[in-house]
Amino acid sequence: MNITIKNLQKYYKDKLVLDIKQLEIESNKITGIVGENGAGKSTLLNIISGIDKNFCGQVYYDKKKLNKKIQKEITLVFQKPRLLNDTVYKNLYYPLKIRNTKKEDNKFKIEEILKNLDIESLKDKKALELSGGEQQKVALARALVFNPKVLMLDEVTSNIDFESIKTIESIIMNYNKYDKNTIILISHDKKLIKSLCDNVIVLDKLEVN
Ligand SMILES: Nc1ncnc2c1ncn2[C@@H]1O[C@H](COP(=O)(O)OP(=O)(O)O)[C@@H](O)[C@H]1O
Ligand SMILES: [Mg+2]
Repeated sequence: MNITIKNLQKYYKDKLVLDIKQLEIESNKITGIVGENGAGKSTLLNIISGIDKNFCGQVYYDKKKLNKKIQKEITLVFQKPRLLNDTVYKNLYYPLKIRNTKKEDNKFKIEEILKNLDIESLKDKKALELSGGEQQKVALARALVFNPKVLMLDEVTSNIDFESIKTIESIIMNYNKYDKNTIILISHDKKLIKSLCDNVIVLDKLEVN
């Protein structure tokens, strides 16, 4: 899915934090977003993901405005994992349930993604009792399980160990390669951005006005 942003301005109270005339995020590519703290990276993904509707300008998804169908095809994984107070399995089941996927396929899909992320052993554990890094992987699994057309990742590797970063890196790479999906990722990890991204957007912090 291609994303086009036009004349985007975002204010928090009277403080302008984003001012983007035109921005294209291409389908089938991995786009990185970089910029210093407070540059508006998370705000931009909140807007693209439809979580933040309070902005001026337009965001188009394959030339269409956000609607219920598109909303279910895009997802954002937050820097701080937001999980349901239930087992890991149920956390992965819910995104499938609300998308009315075939019931008989769900178990297989969940097990496959748990295996890919190497977290099968966490399946029956309570999500909120896991470590930060484990929760981050579950949050990523929750997003990947329904095969979103646009996958947005906001600094998801920030509290994850080196080995797991490698796993996540290869998952992101393969996800893009085989499924032709759009991935947008925010990261401070220059190596990660360099090795994964086809395009990089640099956001500059706006001067205080
Ligand atoms: N909910 C909010 N209310 C007020 N100001 C906010 C809010 N969220 C972010 N900001 C401000 O907007 C600017 C951009 O924040 P953010 O998008 O989180 O930047 P980044 O993700 O690049 O670090 C910062 O100056 C931040 O303080
Ligand atoms: Mg941020």
